[in-house]
Amino acid sequence: MPKINLARQMDRQLPTELSGFLRSAGRVAVGRRENLYLVGGAVRDLLLGEANYDLDLVVEGDGPALAAVLAPGSKLTIHRRFGTAKFRWQQWSVDLATARRECYSRPGALPRVVPGSIGDDLWRRDYSVNAMAIALNPRSFGGFMDLYGGREDLGAGLLRILHERSFIDDATRIWRGLRYEQRLGFKLERNTLRLLKQHTVMLDTISGDRLRYELECVLAEECPERVIRRAAQLSVLASLHPYLEGNGWLRQRYGRARRLTRPQSPSITLYLALLAYRLTEERKEELISKLRLTKPVARTLRDTTGLNSRLKALSAARLKPSQIYDLVHGYDITAVTAAMLVGGEAPAGLRLKKYLEKLRFVKTALSGTDLKAMGVAPGPGFREIMNKLRRARLDGQAVSRQDEEALARKWLAAGPPSPPA
Ligand code: CTP
Repeated sequence: MPKINLARQMDRQLPTELSGFLRSAGRVAVGRRENLYLVGGAVRDLLLGEANYDLDLVVEGDGPALAAVLAPGSKLTIHRRFGTAKFRWQQWSVDLATARRECYSRPGALPRVVPGSIGDDLWRRDYSVNAMAIALNPRSFGGFMDLYGGREDLGAGLLRILHERSFIDDATRIWRGLRYEQRLGFKLERNTLRLLKQHTVMLDTISGDRLRYELECVLAEECPERVIRRAAQLSVLASLHPYLEGNGWLRQRYGRARRLTRPQSPSITLYLALLAYRLTEERKEELISKLRLTKPVARTLRDTTGLNSRLKALSAARLKPSQIYDLVHGYDITAVTAAMLVGGEAPAGLRLKKYLEKLRFVKTALSGTDLKAMGVAPGPGFREIMNKLRRARLDGQAVSRQDEEALARKWLAAGPPSPPA
């Protein structure tokens, strides 16, 4: 097979500083009698003509030690156990790993690793299209290494695992495969698909933290609903929770979410809240503990249940703005956004929209200090007057500071307010 050199393609496609960095990193490596390679997604996307500046480097040598030389003074995140170092170079993120062989003591466990060659390191990877490398040492700079047919699979749009035990060793590759399939418009190769189906049960061997990470990666995709729908078809989604659904309902809400947050993408928490929206309270709790969701995210999910119970009240024929405010205030804003996207053009949805866009920002002109100056003593009555003033503002009974002063004086003259209900 003729040797392929991708140096020119790298210079053309990568920002000048980045290809400069790769060249100088290769020079440093050779000075240390080490061999350095670019691997993984950056190689795949370079061949696809797509931008991907998340650099994965592998060195036949000592990854953390080389990283310390390449990025003096910058913060290194080192995992001794895996021989990896992560750092930022200018605005780019670089992962530098010692070339290694992996050995899985049991399915789903993190692997034991021993130093190895670049060939070993490519063999431990998930799909052939992610298992290609480019040499960075000066004499071989740009030399393309493709031991497992990655380039051919890339041309054919196929995702192929490298060996039969791949999903048993690391079932997170199942989720990764579905992501690549939808993002790249690729197909899982026939045997890979067969093994994926056969080994979906191995997802039970994966810790909640790792599953959550995989789901977050899915939700960071441009169209997560495609991955979720495919995961539902293949019974992969059920491994997160058997009652999750990935149907047209979700597609529609995700589309609405994107139109709402454009040009930014919706947050992962918003997508997650919509995915979990239709679970009962109890099932949401099961998902929260399975994925070990953080407190703020768990709160968002729980608040969607609380808000859901208010949708009927929010659909009433006539509601004053202050009543909408009282029904919604206090709930997490992402949960309110999810409930609004679920509600759509129905009255409850429109009222949640009004709350999000307008009502929640309504403020009184009078502050607590102003009220004190008017002689209102601190205590429950104080809070009550502030609340009544805000309601008056919301409902248009007070439109100026003078209106608020007049109302406050009237309430004060009428005697102490009745205790809050
Ligand atoms: N990798 C793997 N198995 C995993 C995780 C990672 O084989 N469970 C390897 C793949 O070679 C992958 C590389 O590590 O290409 C980097 O991982 P990651 O950054 O997660 O993947 P990318 O390919 O860069 O994918 P993305 O485009 O989604 O960032």
